[in-house]
Amino acid sequence: MEIVDVLVIGGGPGGYLCAERAAQGGLSVILFEKRALGGTCLNEGCIPTKTLLNSAKLYRHATESSAFGVEGTAVYHHDRVIARKNKVVKTLVAGVGATMRSNKVTVVKETAVIEGRTEEGFAVKAGDAVYTGRRLVIAAGSEANVPPIPGVKEGLASGFVVTNREILEETALPKHLIAIGGGVIGLEMACYFASVGTKVTVIEALPKIAGPTDPEICKVLMDTYGKRGMDFYLNCKVLAVTADGVKFEENGEEKFLACDKVLLSVGRHAASAGLGLDKLGVEMNRAAVVTDRHLCTSVPGVYAVGDVNGKIMLAHTAYREAEVAVNHMLGIPDEMRYEVIPSVIYTDPEVASVGLSLDEARKNGINAKETKLPMQYAGRYVAENERGTGFIKLVLDQDRRRLIGCHMVGSYASEIIMTAVMMIDTELSPSRLKKLVFPHPTVAEIIREALFAL
Ligand code: NAI
Repeated sequence: MEIVDVLVIGGGPGGYLCAERAAQGGLSVILFEKRALGGTCLNEGCIPTKTLLNSAKLYRHATESSAFGVEGTAVYHHDRVIARKNKVVKTLVAGVGATMRSNKVTVVKETAVIEGRTEEGFAVKAGDAVYTGRRLVIAAGSEANVPPIPGVKEGLASGFVVTNREILEETALPKHLIAIGGGVIGLEMACYFASVGTKVTVIEALPKIAGPTDPEICKVLMDTYGKRGMDFYLNCKVLAVTADGVKFEENGEEKFLACDKVLLSVGRHAASAGLGLDKLGVEMNRAAVVTDRHLCTSVPGVYAVGDVNGKIMLAHTAYREAEVAVNHMLGIPDEMRYEVIPSVIYTDPEVASVGLSLDEARKNGINAKETKLPMQYAGRYVAENERGTGFIKLVLDQDRRRLIGCHMVGSYASEIIMTAVMMIDTELSPSRLKKLVFPHPTVAEIIREALFAL
């Protein structure tokens, strides 16, 4: 069989973009995918959840807009929302397939397993065939963690317990959903179901929700969702999942809450098991493949991009990693800058963040200062929000006179954060940034206001 330049295992954002860029760079590529192209992001993550959250937002606007002079009734058809989500996913998955074809990437729809190394390159078995590539890219993604909590395995088998994958297939709304884990997946799903009439409870092991997110932002989320009827149990230990609810411990006291669905959202791990990486002796950190800033692994010619390297499990990180890996193959100088990768939580209000917080900056010995401004300083925000509680925080390195962090909660935060990313990435001085003209009225003007306040 012909030897190709690059074998890519996994057709998610990391894998398919890697295949596309490598092909555009003149390399011959084979991409292996055992499920649908598009990976977690397209099939059971970013895109389907945003489709659902948009429908929920429309519903909330239709039912809670009397303060804006609009009254009406609305009926929510969760089954139709799921059907639309399936259509969106199908369209985008087909788009990835078309992109692969137009770039002459061969897609093999089989499970790929590394066989080892030959004189010609890396050997990968998929179906009945063995393929050889001069380089190998691991882009196998991640899987939901399943903790050893009694009853969880049985619950997963019966469908009472679901992960991010199965919950997106449910065509009926649960009456009471308990999310175990108040991280990004737990919060986005909790936000969705709470917005469309499901009673939602979040049980979180840590004293706060949303991992490293700014505590004041977390408070805004908890206050907002508390008012919408969501319950949060923090600092709690889940003891068991029974046939009809969740047993947990709060302040040493055992509690039980009945529900009709449990979402397991307690983090994800790199999906490296069974790939055969041990046959190449690739250095691992538990399930994650260890990589450097060029996405090179410990074995020359083997790269790992996306969730499987366990660095930052976000689709946009995977995209950039794919490009950096291909540039390394092509001898084009490039490297990852993980410090300037934005993150977003698509709750309503949205949360967006990039760079360091004041605390992190000071812990790193940076002479930093912060300014915090309510979103109310942006006229459009006031026009569109009744008593909105959004705010922005900008963090400045006072010695280098550079912006090093931006954290915000409020409408359009997911879109506005890119302005801050560019400001931080380009390292322009605040005096130069203050000369940028923002369109008025936009909520993004809050960045300009905050720069002047800083
Ligand atoms: P996560 O790491 O964000 O949150 C998991 C939460 O579960 C943590 O707060 C943790 O303390 C808690 N937890 C762990 N074990 C627990 C237990 N036994 N009982 C109660 N709480 C427990 O993980 P999540 O939400 O599953 O998301 C996985 C990955 O997917 C993340 O890396 C995230 O970045 C990514 N993702 C990103 C999105 C975005 O960018 N908008 C959307 C959805 C997922």
